[in-house]
Amino acid sequence: MTTTDNIEPAITTAPTAVTRFPAGFLWGSATASYQIEGAVREDGRTPSIWDTFSHTPGKVLNGDTGDVAVDHYHRWRDDVRLMADLGLTAYRFSVAWPRVQPTGRGPAVQRGLDFYRGLVDELLAHGIKPVATLYHWDLPQELENAGGWPVRDTAHRFAEYATLVGEALGDRVEQWVTLNEPWCSAFLGYGSGVHAPGRTDGAAALRAAHHLNLGHGLATSALRGVLPGRAQIGLSLNPSVVRSLTDDPADLDAKRRIDALANRVFTGPLLKGAYPEDLIADTARLTDWSFVQDGDTGIIHQPLDFIGLNYYTPAIVSAPRAGRTGPRRDGHGASDHSPWPGSEEIEFHRVNEDVTAMDWPVDPTGLSDLLLDYSAQAPGVPLYVTENGAAYEDTVVDGAVHDPERVRYLHAHLGAVHDAIARGADVRGYFLWSLLDNFEWAYGYSKRFGAVYVDYETQQRIPKSSATWYAQVARNGGLPA
Ligand code: NOJ
Repeated sequence: MTTTDNIEPAITTAPTAVTRFPAGFLWGSATASYQIEGAVREDGRTPSIWDTFSHTPGKVLNGDTGDVAVDHYHRWRDDVRLMADLGLTAYRFSVAWPRVQPTGRGPAVQRGLDFYRGLVDELLAHGIKPVATLYHWDLPQELENAGGWPVRDTAHRFAEYATLVGEALGDRVEQWVTLNEPWCSAFLGYGSGVHAPGRTDGAAALRAAHHLNLGHGLATSALRGVLPGRAQIGLSLNPSVVRSLTDDPADLDAKRRIDALANRVFTGPLLKGAYPEDLIADTARLTDWSFVQDGDTGIIHQPLDFIGLNYYTPAIVSAPRAGRTGPRRDGHGASDHSPWPGSEEIEFHRVNEDVTAMDWPVDPTGLSDLLLDYSAQAPGVPLYVTENGAAYEDTVVDGAVHDPERVRYLHAHLGAVHDAIARGADVRGYFLWSLLDNFEWAYGYSKRFGAVYVDYETQQRIPKSSATWYAQVARNGGLPA
């Protein structure tokens, strides 16, 4: 035995205690304007579709609204300090369209832009990289009155708004997400109606999906025109990791149909330049797709600097089972209308009883599968997990919030990200959803996703034990053993 052999164990102990991520990996957290800002009538902001929807009785649990939310519009400096305390190296926020361009047309409101300029400067001063999302669902109500996403003009309005924000923030924001989860905007907003604007028309949902795709393409070109060359432009999708209940051909066909409506309706034009033929056939009784005009798919199919992926749980599907009754289990809220136009009969199953407070099964293998799938579909395009996290029933005991289930969830999912990287996926960062407890859309304030607890009466922020855990992970650049 040499002297070197003797001392080796002492040297290797420290590195093996941590599963390391690549140098420069972003340790982030994410939020969205309507979910946290409040101040809905301040500084020239006008109503968005979510203001209208949340103020419509019966649409949001307990009649909750984003009027005050977590008052981030007034507490942003403190919130940035919290992020710095957590050791975050990146923060993904969204810009509220109705704050910047209240009617969805015309010049920008400087006071609206000033809010985001101040926020970004504060982030940069704390060494936190800002990642700006342009659209996280708060469409100006006036644009919905003019037809919303099912009409083509909304895509052009979106590109104009993107130009205004790009001109104002492009000197300090490098990374841009055009759309957040366009599937939800189209299919929950216009299909099942559980999200704003609450319409239930499958054909309109398909038109909305196309105009969101077109809006992404037009906004990307517009941003490239006004931003410096270093800008990174992409979007955040929420692909369904679809699995079939059995290998029965009918179940495999159910999987194909949901994959078309959840995933390929976006990745078809984005990554391949065409809508999938099977999707067009599956939806033929609703639409002939004549809203797709010559040249549209060319506008949509342009290079992406990165792809953002939001992941929470997989979807297990089958063909209809005879005699089955009970609630729909697709995880997207209660409605008499399906968010799956043309494939309403397909059944969703829960095969795993380990669920979060959203009733979403915990399955980290879905995240590694997703990352490897996108690596294969979009070779050479960097990936980011732009959202991942869990709601649990958090309570304050003696001034503290202990949330071991969330720690377990985060640990397992970050392990899945590491696994995907080890198997070749180029994943550059992870954004925990969410920094703070906030307005969880149709569930109002009943579901808490934050790493930081918010007392909605006092607006006091209490970092949960998951926040302390995540801070350590961010500081170490890796997971504890
Ligand atoms: C996706 C959405 O982007 C976000 O707004 C939402 O709160 C989380 N998922 C949790 O449902």
